[in-house]
Amino acid sequence: MNSHSTPTGIFITGTDTEIGKTVVASGLATALKAAGINVGVMKPIASGGVEHKGHLVSEDAIFLKHAAQVDDALNLINPICLRHPLAPSVAAEIEGVSVNLRQIDDAFAELCQRHEFIVVEGVGGIAVPICEDMLVANLAQRFQLPLIVVARPNLGTINHTVLTVEFARSYNLEICGIVLNASQEGAKGLVEETNPKELERLTHLPILGTVPFDEQLQGNTPDPDFLSQFIGEHIDWKRLVGANG
Ligand SMILES: Nc1ncnc2c1ncn2[C@@H]1O[C@H](COP(=O)(O)OP(=O)(O)O)[C@@H](O)[C@H]1O
Ligand SMILES: [Mg+2]
Repeated sequence: MNSHSTPTGIFITGTDTEIGKTVVASGLATALKAAGINVGVMKPIASGGVEHKGHLVSEDAIFLKHAAQVDDALNLINPICLRHPLAPSVAAEIEGVSVNLRQIDDAFAELCQRHEFIVVEGVGGIAVPICEDMLVANLAQRFQLPLIVVARPNLGTINHTVLTVEFARSYNLEICGIVLNASQEGAKGLVEETNPKELERLTHLPILGTVPFDEQLQGNTPDPDFLSQFIGEHIDWKRLVGANG
């Protein structure tokens, strides 16, 4: 692929599962949408799918679709959904299916045609295996999108974040910055106060935002207006549009 075919968008990864990737991805999509940008969302591969009207669907994809208020079909937003809540390579093996990268590429190409900007949510963290010879890092390379790393704000996050950033860099992935998200309730102390600066020093990346814990973000059906306002307030999303030129 040459630079002319480089799509515009962002790939959301995280230092762990349940870290807030879906919340941050959805929030960014709504904030960009509120700014008048035609935003699409994508969850290329999901595991732990749930049965819905005879199909296996990804709750992340439903959340993203609902938040971004897009008309795209769920199987375009999420072309591959596995049943077991395991790393995709392991779930696929147990389920006797092979992960069809062509399906992911076709869905991504279609979404790029339909939208100006695509917010893609990864699965698990950057080193999670998608299939035998592919990790999430390879998927991000395939999409040619810069990353956002979602991390915890509290003790332990420096180690996980530095490891994630260094791993991504070893794949020559561009990283826009880090978002610290509190997906669990907890007191804020000296650690949360001092972590952002230390993370910037060690990674040479900007902290694009610190998202506090909020009850309204718990659960499966976010209010798009709340998400857009809340994430818009706490994440410097305007930098993303600039970062993509
Ligand atoms: N800032 C926050 N405040 C409150 N709950 C949050 C926040 N961020 C995430 N959550 C909740 O934490 C859980 C994990 O978040 P999610 O975005 O699904 O993580 P991931 O996509 O990385 O697995 C979800 O139940 C979500 O509603
Ligand atoms: Mg998710």
